Amino acid sequence: MSNPPRYPVLAVVAMARNRVIGDGEKLLWHLPGDLPRVKALTMGRPLIMGRRTFESIGRPLPGRANIVLTRQQGWSADGVLTASTTEDALRMAADWIDADQDRVEEIIIFGGGDIYAAFLDRTDAIDLTEIDLAPDGGALFPELNAADWQETRRDDRPADGDTPAHAFVRLTRR
Ligand SMILES: NC(=O)c1ccc[n+]([C@@H]2O[C@H](COP(=O)([O-])OP(=O)(O)OC[C@H]3O[C@@H](n4cnc5c(N)ncnc54)[C@H](OP(=O)(O)O)[C@@H]3O)[C@@H](O)[C@H]2O)c1
Repeated sequence: MSNPPRYPVLAVVAMARNRVIGDGEKLLWHLPGDLPRVKALTMGRPLIMGRRTFESIGRPLPGRANIVLTRQQGWSADGVLTASTTEDALRMAADWIDADQDRVEEIIIFGGGDIYAAFLDRTDAIDLTEIDLAPDGGALFPELNAADWQETRRDDRPADGDTPAHAFVRLTRR
């Protein structure tokens, strides 16, 4: 049995109605308010992400630890901490928080689909942007067991021009 993470674990994700989160290439939607929101939710915190998500962003995000999970020995990128197991990634995230008192005591699961699934059992809360679209795409957010999760916040936004209807939702583990 693995040790529980030393800090709360929050997944941050934007997901369509069909659970699609990405297609590995292009952005599937454009939500003007989402980038500043993700920045506010993640700044000063360690991010744990899959190698594919890191490569789709293309650079480390400033003001945060960028912990990239890969099974490839010897993989590295500038400004990134590399982890080869979920346990290593959680330990690195907690150590990064401990190294500076200005850091926020929360670990962010930043995606993509493989990584949300790998950490779901350790995730305490999910900050979800629900998008009222159903695009094609191979990367999915894992199915949630409704008995495990409670919606503790919801902010519905109607469609507006090119911006699809969407909702900012907080799910908390029961
Ligand atoms: N909408 C959103 O909120 C959101 C957020 C994040 C990402 N995305 C999208 O999601 C897509 C990428 O998701 P994805 O599922 O294809 O890939 P991913 O989860 O980003 O990365 C998968 C990679 O992570 C490594 N990995 C996975 N599990 C591991 C484990 N247990 N131990 C060690 N390494 C592990 C492997 O890297 P190696 O192959 O190097 O071994 C694997 O190929 C992109 O389209 C991206 O834009 C969307």
